[in-house]
Amino acid sequence: MATAQIAPWRSPLARALHYHREPHARYVQLATVSPQGLPHNRTVVFRGFRRDTDTLQFITDRRSGKVQDIRANPYGEVCWYFGKTREQYRIAGELVLIEADNPDRTALWVAISDKARAQFFWATPGAPRQPDTEFLDSWVGLEPPETFCLLLLQPRQVDHLQLRGEPQNRTLYKLEGNHWTVTAVNP
Ligand SMILES: Cc1cc2nc3c(=O)[nH]c(=O)nc-3n(C[C@H](O)[C@H](O)[C@H](O)COP(=O)(O)O)c2cc1C
Repeated sequence: MATAQIAPWRSPLARALHYHREPHARYVQLATVSPQGLPHNRTVVFRGFRRDTDTLQFITDRRSGKVQDIRANPYGEVCWYFGKTREQYRIAGELVLIEADNPDRTALWVAISDKARAQFFWATPGAPRQPDTEFLDSWVGLEPPETFCLLLLQPRQVDHLQLRGEPQNRTLYKLEGNHWTVTAVNP
């Protein structure tokens, strides 16, 4: 979502990412709600912010369970813990699936590794296990396949907990219209 300015939580998050340059610092837990109203949670890789916005980008397979969840309930929350700085971000908002032709989707398809691309040609995720020959390390075509989805999280609330400090610090950021409010709350 385009807001007037970069959100105020972006600068502490950028600092945390600066201190955690190892790839696993970009693994976050994404929670969604199933069509039956039950929670589901899984690890996904943060793929950066969408150009000039506070929107987080992920990629996923259109055939995966989370896509059914998001179609029924387009809201989710990411939980992100940074070990060295001992801080947690819970970033909640609207989830948007981009399945059709889109420049950002194509750009991410080009940016990911061959191994990551190959997975989108594997047998259907979650279906009964098929022979290993259905999981090759190769991929075809320069265009993203239909299975390749760009998944966006447009934050509306960010809950930032810093364990470091006596006492700990917790800050709540809320998007009101196109303006972020910032409130210090008890940890
Ligand atoms: C380290 C790690 C990174 C992962 N990255 C992604 C990812 O970027 N996108 C994704 O859809 N699944 C990713 N997965 C797999 C998901 O955690 C999950 O198993 C899969 O997406 C199916 O989940 P679903 O049935 O809830 O859709 C990753 C798993 C691990 C362990």
